[in-house]
Amino acid sequence: MNRPATAAQVAPTYEVPAYIINAKLKQWVAEVAALTQPDRIVWCDGSQEEYDRLCNEMVASGMLIRLNPQKRPDSFLARSDPDDVARMEDRTFVCARSKEDAGPNNNWVAPDEMRATLGKLFRGCMRGRSMYVIPFSMGPLGSHISHIGVELTDSPYVVVSMRIMTRIGRKVLDILGADGYFVPCLHSIGAPLAAGQKDVPWPSNKEHKYIVHFPEDKSIWSFGSGYGGNALLGKKCFALRIASIMAREQGWLAEHMLILGIQPPGGKKHYIAAAFPSACGKTNLAMLIPPAALEGWKVTTIGEDIAWIKPGRDGRLYAINPEAGAFGVAPGTSDETNTNCMAAVKSDTIFTNVALTPDGDVWWEGMTRTPPKELTDWQGRPWTPDSGRLAAHPNSRFTVATTRIPSVDPDWENPDGVPISAFLFGGRRATTVPLVIEAKDWTHGVYLAATMASETTAAITGKVGVVRRDPFAMLPFCGYHFGDYFRHWLKVGSALQHAPRIFSVNWFRRDENGKFLWPGFGENMRVLKWIVERCEGKAGATDTPIGRMPRYEDLEWQGLDKVSRDTYAKLSAIDSKLWREELKDHAELFGKLHSRLPREMTEQREQLERAL
Ligand code: GTP
Ligand code: SPV
Ligand code: MN
Repeated sequence: MNRPATAAQVAPTYEVPAYIINAKLKQWVAEVAALTQPDRIVWCDGSQEEYDRLCNEMVASGMLIRLNPQKRPDSFLARSDPDDVARMEDRTFVCARSKEDAGPNNNWVAPDEMRATLGKLFRGCMRGRSMYVIPFSMGPLGSHISHIGVELTDSPYVVVSMRIMTRIGRKVLDILGADGYFVPCLHSIGAPLAAGQKDVPWPSNKEHKYIVHFPEDKSIWSFGSGYGGNALLGKKCFALRIASIMAREQGWLAEHMLILGIQPPGGKKHYIAAAFPSACGKTNLAMLIPPAALEGWKVTTIGEDIAWIKPGRDGRLYAINPEAGAFGVAPGTSDETNTNCMAAVKSDTIFTNVALTPDGDVWWEGMTRTPPKELTDWQGRPWTPDSGRLAAHPNSRFTVATTRIPSVDPDWENPDGVPISAFLFGGRRATTVPLVIEAKDWTHGVYLAATMASETTAAITGKVGVVRRDPFAMLPFCGYHFGDYFRHWLKVGSALQHAPRIFSVNWFRRDENGKFLWPGFGENMRVLKWIVERCEGKAGATDTPIGRMPRYEDLEWQGLDKVSRDTYAKLSAIDSKLWREELKDHAELFGKLHSRLPREMTEQREQLERAL
């Protein structure tokens, strides 16, 4: 192909299909094409044929490996570049006009300065590649809670992933119409190809990575990475960072929450939304299978990562899952810990950075008790159990459609959402935080959520296992000042006639030998049962200085001998020395957010201090 020898910006010539009638979309694509100079433009229709064609092309180019059709039908393995394996919080920016609006919880660069930087990086960055136009809907098509975005990307892996994770293609354009609103999401792996240059299996930009949000014009620019939340822009960039800003303006909530349905034997179904930081158990909880001893209890799945929640006319909150698929953590997932998930990924799944078995299937740490004798690890190197390194990357993931989850709730695409009875907030805390606490009221609940903390995981690049404050599990995802965000939660709650109850949970408390005190996974059902019964006014509790807690006899123990009365005492212990330390941390967080912190938060802290 002839490329201009000069650096002059010559817009590539391309055809616009007649069905593209949105003027803004046509204009934006033209501008981006002129800037990034792709060899061709592909307008994605979202069809199965298109998906199959792109997968075949990636198999041919080496970006995907087709798994054994007998073992794992219609499934693929991708291996990313070893330094493109997780979200990069230090490369993520919220470029509000004022630094104060972005808040101390976001990295900030002045918008003009950032635009100049990005302008240089994006110039010619798609040379030698295709630019794909992906219209997508976050939320069921046409739901009043849903919103539309368009992602432009030069990564076919992003296209096929977006087809699983969201609703894409012609049907979205039909809703968008000639003048409908969409959030522009521009993505490039930042690896142009010179004429004749051979591509690598996972092209990305080693030098420059930027994940940038402009709150005022609600646009997203992502450069240099092809992995997960850095590249599938509908997910964290749109559905959390930009959506949290939209939600504040419009009176709703965009949260890092799973949504599950829970039905007592013969009773009324409740829906619970639960926020946990990355790789802290949302996928597992969303697909929970109750233990045999809790016969008749049923759990169904609406979503496992993100919830959009709107007040309804009846004074309750209603939630949708804006996504249509799961991009879940592979390691630790097994028939024992998550049967539903293992069933979901049996076929039609894209795996990234897991290990490959000699017969063309996948494996990861924790999938089976004994690892296979030999494997190809996530970087394509031979691996044996004594090689002393992990076979799968700790943040290796699967991408699979929600419809493939056996526990999917019949109402998962209800355009009006499902009514929420309770909110849960949970972090990974080895000490201090009890198994479950019920907030005394909404304001106290907002305080519990605002002050939650968690040990960091492999879902982000950086140090793993460090306790940090992660308010609402939204530290990396709130698109504006946390002080304003807490105030927004207080405001939304105060307008509800039937506000959900709020709970804090911790599955991760450890004993003096570092062993988990709580068995977790399916057994978490026992805590969910108590929560539902609290919502129905049936279960007992006791008041403590930090909130209401179940006494031993308030929880269902049948079929669980692993947790003795003694162990439960450890799980629910309130160590006043540790809590005084905890309160110092709360004060430190509030100090950082001081300029916009609602007065209620300081009052709650003072009350707690007195109570302790
Ligand atoms: P993102 O997709 O990153 O937002 O995270 P997620 O919250 O969906 O993560 P996921 O459910 O995949 O978390 C996986 C990790 O949590 C694995 O290390 C699991 O072993 C661990 N995990 C999940 N549930 C439990 C539990 O009940 N107890 C314990 N101890 N670990 C759990
Ligand atoms: C998370 O890190 O919370 C995820 C994975 O859900 S990613 O999509 O990469 O953000
Ligand atoms: Mn997540």
